[in-house]
Amino acid sequence: MAAIVLYCRPGFEKDCGAEIQEKAAWNQVYGYLQLSKNSGIVFFHLNNPDEGEVLLAKIPLKRLIFARQWFLTLTDKIELPEYNRVEAITEALGQEWQYSDLRMETPDTNDGKSLSKFCRKLAVPLRQALRQKKILSAKGDNDGAILHALFFSGSEVILGYSLGTNSSEHVMGIPRLKFPSQAPSRSTLKLDEAFLYFIPRDEWDTRLTSGLHAVDLGASPGGWTYQLVRRGMMVTSIDNGPMAESLMDTGQVKHKMVDGFKYVPAKKNVYWLVCDMIEKPQRVAKLMATWLLRGDCKEAMFNLKLPMKGRYQQVQEDLQMIKDMFAEYDVKYELYAKHLYYDREEVTVHARLLTPAPYFEL
Ligand SMILES: C[S@@+](CC[C@H](N)C(=O)[O-])C[C@H]1O[C@@H](n2cnc3c(N)ncnc32)[C@H](O)[C@@H]1O
Repeated sequence: MAAIVLYCRPGFEKDCGAEIQEKAAWNQVYGYLQLSKNSGIVFFHLNNPDEGEVLLAKIPLKRLIFARQWFLTLTDKIELPEYNRVEAITEALGQEWQYSDLRMETPDTNDGKSLSKFCRKLAVPLRQALRQKKILSAKGDNDGAILHALFFSGSEVILGYSLGTNSSEHVMGIPRLKFPSQAPSRSTLKLDEAFLYFIPRDEWDTRLTSGLHAVDLGASPGGWTYQLVRRGMMVTSIDNGPMAESLMDTGQVKHKMVDGFKYVPAKKNVYWLVCDMIEKPQRVAKLMATWLLRGDCKEAMFNLKLPMKGRYQQVQEDLQMIKDMFAEYDVKYELYAKHLYYDREEVTVHARLLTPAPYFEL
C-alpha cells in the first residue's frame, strides 16, 4: 500500500490532511487519510499506488500551505533489529534506484527530537552502505530523487522518496535559523524565514537589497523592522507601541504612531509592505490587496491569523478574497501562503503583482 507522508506542525494534522485530500482530488487522485493528533505526520493512503509519483510531480510543494515536507512511501513501517539496522534498511530498499541524497528524519515532536542523536549516528554507516551498493550516488545533487528515512523509534522506520526539484531542501522541511541577539523580538525569525522561503536567493540582489523603502505595519517592538534594517532598507514603522532604541539609532527607521489601517504612504516609492498586525485575517487580506492594487508597494509579506477550527478552509477563503480583488482589476499576480516553521497560529503570505502600472484608485 503506497502513501504520501506529509510533515506539518504538530496539532495541524487535520488541516494538512484536508488540504492534500482536496488538492489530490483536483488531480483525480483519491485516497484516505490516517491522522494521529499532535504527531506532526499525515498519511494519505492512495487508492491507486501508481498515482503517487504523479502527485509528487503535479502538485508543487510550494502550493501546499500546511505541509513542510513530503515523500512517497517505498515501504510500510519496518521493524528494525537491534543490531544490523543498516543491513535491514539497505535490504528493504533493494537495488532498484539511485538517490542523490539521504534525509534522516523524525516527527517534529519531543519523542522525535529525542531520536536526533540516534539518527546522526546511524547516518554515517548507512550512507556508506548505500553508496557501496550504489543506492545513493557518491556526490549529492539535489535535483535527483531524495531518499527519506522517517524514524518513529530506534526500531521503526518508513522509507520513501521525494523529487529533489519538488521537496524542501531542509531536513523535515525545517530551516534552522539563529536568533540574532540584537533583534528586539523573537518574531524576527518569522520574517527571516519568510524571505528565505518565498524569495529565491538569486533575486535577493534586486528584491531584498539596501536602499529599498519598506513599511512595517504593526511593527512594535521591531523584530520585523530589524530584518529590513539589516538588509539596508529605509523603514517606516507603524505602531502605537514603542520601537527598540537600537533600531531608531540606525537612522534607517521612521516611527509613526498611527492606525495601520489608515496609513497611506505619501510617495509611491515603497517596495516592501510587511504586516504582522494581530487583526481579523479578512481585514488584513483586503488591506494588502488594496496597497498592491493602488501601487503603494511592489511586494507584500504578511501574516493571516488562523481560527481554532477549519483552518485550511478559512485560509482558502481569505486567499480567495485577495484573488477576487485582483481578478476584478484583471491583474496578473503571484500569491503563495505557507504555514512556516516559525509561525504558530498564523500563516505567512507573499503577494506581488506581475502586471505593471497603471495602478488603481481604491
Ligand atoms: C505581533 S505584534 C508585532 C511584532 C513585530 N512584528 C515584531 O517583530 O516585533 C503586533 C503589533 O501590531 C500592533 N497593531 C495592532 N493593530 C494595529 C493597528 N490597527 N495599527 C497599528 N498597529 C497595530 C500592536 O500594537 C502590536 O505591537
